[in-house]
Amino acid sequence: MTAGASSKVFADRIGRIEVSATMAVAAEAAKLRAQGANLVDFGAGEPHFDTPRHIKEAAIAAIQANFTRYTVVPGISDVRKAIVERHAADFGSGYSIDEAIFTTGGKLALFNTIQILVDHGDEVILPVPYWVSFKDIIQYAGGKVVYLETSEAESFRITADAIEKAVTPRTKAIILNSPSNPAGSVVSQEDLERIVHLAHDRGIFLLLDECYVYLNYSGKPASGGSYTWAKEHVVVLGSLSKTYAMTGWRAGFALASKPIVANLSKLQSQSTSNAASMVQKAAVAALTGSQECVAEFRAEFIELRDYMLARLAAIPGITCAKPEGAFYVYPNISAFLGKGGVKTATELATRLLHEAHVVTVPGEAFGTAEHIRVSYPVTRQNIDEGVRRMGEFLTGLA
Ligand SMILES: Cc1ncc(COP(=O)(O)O)c(C=O)c1O
Repeated sequence: MTAGASSKVFADRIGRIEVSATMAVAAEAAKLRAQGANLVDFGAGEPHFDTPRHIKEAAIAAIQANFTRYTVVPGISDVRKAIVERHAADFGSGYSIDEAIFTTGGKLALFNTIQILVDHGDEVILPVPYWVSFKDIIQYAGGKVVYLETSEAESFRITADAIEKAVTPRTKAIILNSPSNPAGSVVSQEDLERIVHLAHDRGIFLLLDECYVYLNYSGKPASGGSYTWAKEHVVVLGSLSKTYAMTGWRAGFALASKPIVANLSKLQSQSTSNAASMVQKAAVAALTGSQECVAEFRAEFIELRDYMLARLAAIPGITCAKPEGAFYVYPNISAFLGKGGVKTATELATRLLHEAHVVTVPGEAFGTAEHIRVSYPVTRQNIDEGVRRMGEFLTGLA
């Protein structure tokens, strides 16, 4: 490919990021499946439930009523009202409609927030292990990722003390994802409050990825958005994907101060414009309808987590911190590194895929070298079969 007068084809910024590792794993698995392989898929980051019927019906009704045209960029007032009222009812936050924007998935809310806040050289504190996209999105904006190590012995818990030590005069933002992907770690209410305080006092933006906020198994779900005095520096990033089993719909949002939301809307006006109109109607149904499905999904995930942990514990050499939320376990596989020619978690996950036909995601994608991520929203039979295959493969390495 030639590049005309310029000597290079692609802009620097696209060279600063990699293809999302979870998407890459999914693509490799799809290739094997197309060749007829019978895979057990612990790779996907999504609930195995169907989207609840009342949500689907709202979208179908919207299409039938020809609600299929452009809407205002940040979303119709009904959807923004539903977002702020749901969040206020569940967490005691106090956002107005002008402080909410509906986006094409939670990932876009995060991407756009970082684009409008982070400049070249700005530091963004990111606890490890981190969800794959945080690092790349920060780097795309030209920001510098400041990795904050956590301790596996303490279930990868993030504390206010650790965050405080990582702050420098160049810190622009802190990312908190609680419960977290991949480790399922939860920030305690006390630490959350202290982190909100320290960010607000120092003029640092606190980006709260609440994608799994309803999948908190350690107690009552909490949101930093409830500290209304810190609104100026807090951005709540929400998603309907996991809460309502709506991953393919692309429904997310941000709640923040008016200037932040106005700038998010400005950027969105020059890229995706409004999120799909019928999806906005579906989101209204999800957020204002019965929340029983959320409680049901949560209860089932807790059982599946315990089921998965019990089976993994039977594989000699695997150790695993108990996740307090989300729907992943993050077992330590260091006992197998150096055995059977396997040197890294990536090699282990690749061989698990090709030789045992089990899909997992290697820890390197999340910033740690000795783990694999195992998603458990699958049937119990699949957990049994997948862990049996893993056990056979891993024992065979010895
Ligand atoms: C931590 C975290 N944040 C955000 C997202 C994005 O969710 P979505 O774009 O589907 O709303 C995901 C999806 O896997 C996630 O794990």
